[in-house]
Amino acid sequence: MKVLIKGGTLVDDAGEYRQDLLIDGELISRLAPDISPSEADSVIDARGLLVMPGGIDVHTHFNIDVGIARSCDDFFTGTRAAACGGTTTIIDHMGFGPAGCNLHHQLGVYHDYAQNSAVIDYSFHGVIQHIDDAILEELASMVHDEGISSFKFYLTYQYHLQDRDTLRLLQRLKEVGALATVHPENDAVVNFNRRRFIAEGKGAPIWHALSRPAACEAEAIGRTLNLAHLAGDAPLYIVHLSNGLGLDYIRLAQAQNQPVWAETCPQYLLLDINRYLEPDGLKYILSPPLRPRTEQDKLWVGLVAGDIDTVATDHCTFPLAQRREMASDDFTRCPNGLPGVENRMALLFSEGVATGRISRSRFVALTSANPARLFGLWPQKGNLNPGSDADLVLFDPECTRVIHHADLHDSVDYSPWEGFTCHGYPVMTLSRGNIIYQHGRFTGQAGRGRFLHRKPFTCQRSVQI
Ligand code: URP
Ligand code: ZN
Ligand code: ZN
Repeated sequence: MKVLIKGGTLVDDAGEYRQDLLIDGELISRLAPDISPSEADSVIDARGLLVMPGGIDVHTHFNIDVGIARSCDDFFTGTRAAACGGTTTIIDHMGFGPAGCNLHHQLGVYHDYAQNSAVIDYSFHGVIQHIDDAILEELASMVHDEGISSFKFYLTYQYHLQDRDTLRLLQRLKEVGALATVHPENDAVVNFNRRRFIAEGKGAPIWHALSRPAACEAEAIGRTLNLAHLAGDAPLYIVHLSNGLGLDYIRLAQAQNQPVWAETCPQYLLLDINRYLEPDGLKYILSPPLRPRTEQDKLWVGLVAGDIDTVATDHCTFPLAQRREMASDDFTRCPNGLPGVENRMALLFSEGVATGRISRSRFVALTSANPARLFGLWPQKGNLNPGSDADLVLFDPECTRVIHHADLHDSVDYSPWEGFTCHGYPVMTLSRGNIIYQHGRFTGQAGRGRFLHRKPFTCQRSVQI
C-alpha cells in the first residue's frame, strides 16, 4: 500500500521543505518536489499543512500503581489520547514493584500492560527501587537483551536512593550504555515541610507547592549533577524541570561539557502556582509543583537557548472526583500527576511557535527528534528520512481550537488545559503509514502499537542535538 502526502510543507529538526512524501507500507520511501499521484494507492491532500515527524513523548505513566491509587489512563486510553494529539511514540516510566523485586519483574508487568492495548509504538524506562550487586549486574541484560536503555531513579518517594547508591548506579549505567534519568527533589525537605504543614492545619492544595519549593528541586539537581560528574561524567537526563535555579545548575554542567540533558513539560511553561488557589486546586497536584510565573519565564529562556532539550508531559491521571474524595482537606493524601498527553504538541506549537519564541524546526527537535536521539530510537523515529517509520503528524498552523475535556480521548474527568486556546492543531496522525487520527476522530486500533527495542545510549553533549 502506497500513500502519497501531497502539497504539504515538510518540517524536520533541520529545516523546512516544500516536498511531497511517499509512504510505502510502514516506511517513508521517497521525498520529492512533485510526486505523481499515479505512484500511490491513495493521496492525502496536505496543502496548507505542516508534515512533521510524529511526536515522541518520553514521559508518561499509564496504569501506574502509586500505592494509594492507580492512574486511570491505561495503555489503550493513554496512547489513544496521545495519538489524537499527534504523538506516535511514548516511553512510559515503569512504576515501583513489590519491595526487593528485580528489574525484569517490572519489565514483565509492563509488557503485559501494553501488549494488546497500545495503539502507538512504545517503550519503557526501567525503574530503580534499590541498589545491590544483583541489580547492577542485571542492568546489562536490560539494556542489551531487552532494549531498555534508560532508567529512572528517585530522590524522594518511597524508594529514593541515597548518595552512595546513586553514585554506584550512575557509574554502572554509563558502563552498560544507558541513560540515567532522575526525579530530583530533596526528600528530607519535602517530608519536613509536609509534616509541619499538616500539624499546623495547612492541608489546602497551595501548601503542596509550598512544601516543595524550587530550592528543594534545585538542590537535588545540583547534587545529582555533581554525583554524575564524580561517576566519570555519567550521562544524565533531568526529568520534569520546573525552575530556574535548577536550570542554572544544568547550564553550568553543560558549559563544562558534562553530558547532561533536560526535559520540561507544558505545565511548567504555562501554568503557575496560583492554580492551587482555585476552588479545585487539587486538579493541579503534581511533583514538582507548579511554580511562580517568574520560573516559567526562565524555562522559556532555556527552551529557546537550547539548554532544555525535550518537552514531555509526565501524563499521570487521577480523576478530580477521586482527588476530592481522598484529599479534600489534606494535600498529602492526593495522588500526584497531571493529564496532558493529548495536548503537548498543540500547546507547545501555540505558545512556542505561534508566539514566535521558537522555530518550527526547534519544535520538531523538542517534541520528536531530540527524544528519538536521546532514547535510542533514531533514525527509526524522529525524522522524515526515507527508510524511517512513517510516523507523521499533519498540523494545521492556521486553525484555532479551544481545549475542552469533552473533546479529548483520555479517561480522566477533567483537563488542566480546559478553555486554553491553541493556535495550530494536529489534524491527522499516521503511525507506520496507518491513519490513526483524523479531524477529531480516533481511527486506530488497540494492540497495533509495537514495543520498541531501543539502542544503547551514545549521545554526546558537545554535539548539539
Ligand atoms: O507528580 C508527578 N509528577 N507524578 C508522576 C510521577 C513522577 O514523579 O514523575
Ligand atoms: Zn518524577
Ligand atoms: Zn513522571
